Amino acid sequence: MIKQLTIGAITALALTAGSAFAAGKSGHVEDFDFSFEGPFGTFDQNQLQRGLQIYTEVCAACHGLQYVPLRTLADEGGPNLPMDQVRAYAADTFEVFDPALDDFRSATPNDHFPMSGLENAPDLSLMAKARAGFHGPYGLGLNQLFKGMGGPEYIASLLTEYTGEEKEEAGVILYENKSFPGGWIAMAPPLFDDQIEFADGHPSTVHSMSEDVAAFLMWTAEPKMMARKQAGFVGVVFLTILSVLLYLTNKRIWAPVKGKKSS
Ligand code: HEC
Repeated sequence: MIKQLTIGAITALALTAGSAFAAGKSGHVEDFDFSFEGPFGTFDQNQLQRGLQIYTEVCAACHGLQYVPLRTLADEGGPNLPMDQVRAYAADTFEVFDPALDDFRSATPNDHFPMSGLENAPDLSLMAKARAGFHGPYGLGLNQLFKGMGGPEYIASLLTEYTGEEKEEAGVILYENKSFPGGWIAMAPPLFDDQIEFADGHPSTVHSMSEDVAAFLMWTAEPKMMARKQAGFVGVVFLTILSVLLYLTNKRIWAPVKGKKSS
């Protein structure tokens, strides 16, 4: 209700003030409804596991996750895979260079995901925190206050908003994308419908896969989000109880003085 009212107010503001921001330099970002939004939002474990699968089968060909330790895939607030599954995943999927052996060996849970394999593909570990989907109006950042920063929304939108147009510029093929600032990105559309078969039978449309992989990248960027929200909630409860006690204490301390005054 509040959200709708404020969005209404903001839209009205934007409309009355002309199209400067409506046209905007940044691209179009859809407001996806992620499970981890809001003060009580949590990661959807199945979604994170699907996101991991999409990252592994598609994005890992070009993008690294070099700041993410493989062992965290077993974390409770994250994909929560059993440790032997993590061990098997690491060994079967990645090879790392071991200076002690002076050779490559298969990865273990103690290793990190590898670096980007393609030079101009950015590392995705912190991408969901490095990008903002929502801005304005007029530099106030009100949209971010009500919709969140929009990092995962930006990633999910980026993957869905290809127009199909492409052009060549200075020997590089660029693909038109309505979410990418500037409109033309050097990443070919990575996802297509029914590309991946999920163990849980979840549909694999471009839209749903974009959402799943964006949620997974939100987890890599903020793996302790659930612990943070829980600690925040306990803190607020604690402060509320403390406020009530302090109010009652204050009343009692001043009771004799106030009593005198009124009589
Ligand atoms: C064939 C290689 C390739 C694959 C596969 C690929 N990407 Fe990319 N990606 C790139 C390149 C190259 C860029 C840099 C594009 C640019 O700056 O114009 C990029 C950029 C990005 C960006 C950053 C956009 C920005 O705002 O700077 C994100 C996010 C991203 N990719 C996500 C993904 C995800 C998620 C997947 C898997 C579903 C994926 N990519 C698969 C090559 C790839």
